[in-house]
Amino acid sequence: MRKKIVAGNWKMNKSFEEGLALASEIVNFYKDEVHSDVEAVLIPPFIHLVSVGRLLDHPHVQLGAQNCHQEVSGAYTGEVSAAMLSSAGAQYVILGHSERRQYFGEEEGLLAKKIRTALAAGLKPIYCVGETKEEREDNRHFDVIESQVEGALSVFSAEELKTLVIAYEPVWAIGTGLTASPEQAQEVHAFIRNLLEKRFGASFSQLVPILYGGSVNPTNAAELFSKRDIDGGLVGGASLKSRDFINIIQSFV
Ligand code: PGA
Repeated sequence: MRKKIVAGNWKMNKSFEEGLALASEIVNFYKDEVHSDVEAVLIPPFIHLVSVGRLLDHPHVQLGAQNCHQEVSGAYTGEVSAAMLSSAGAQYVILGHSERRQYFGEEEGLLAKKIRTALAAGLKPIYCVGETKEEREDNRHFDVIESQVEGALSVFSAEELKTLVIAYEPVWAIGTGLTASPEQAQEVHAFIRNLLEKRFGASFSQLVPILYGGSVNPTNAAELFSKRDIDGGLVGGASLKSRDFINIIQSFV
């Protein structure tokens, strides 16, 4: 049985007070209403991590970070290391989000280094892949995803990647209100699982949670999560409202 995960990527949103209020509402709703073993991961901006983490007193509500630097430590003004995140209480770290790829030029070689540093610090990477609108229209999405998966993960062994989570996030669906259809998403998730099987073996591929991201909301989550290879969601906009985020978690049947 694969772990079911709903991760809320707050991106660059929420003041300190707003972040604490959101986190405590989610924890309270979770305690009162969620009777499944779905894992919620709250992923606030770095500066809120410690304070949000202190509010997460439920075993199924975990803390994650949005990025980390590839080096262990050193003269990198303004950057945050994986070990710092871990010591601040984070269990997960998003790596390779399309906004990092697009606005900060991150690509597979760098992301492989970040994954290595994150794993060494005991963080579970949530490695994001996904094609742009043009790539899908040109029918190149499978090639793009294959090179993103292979380019960052092929330097690792299955043993090293045993805490890996993958998120499939079509760029054209992020923050746009457009969602991949459950069938489109399932098709890509099965493709990713097959790539993992070819490289790392069947038992490994069956254990890696693959999350879907891109305009997930309380209305479309249930159908997406009903698909065989979709193990949860990486949620942006709808994770900023506690009720919506909890309703998405409750969409697992
Ligand atoms: P969205 O963002 O849910 O607002 O589309 C998803 C993401 O970028 O992780």
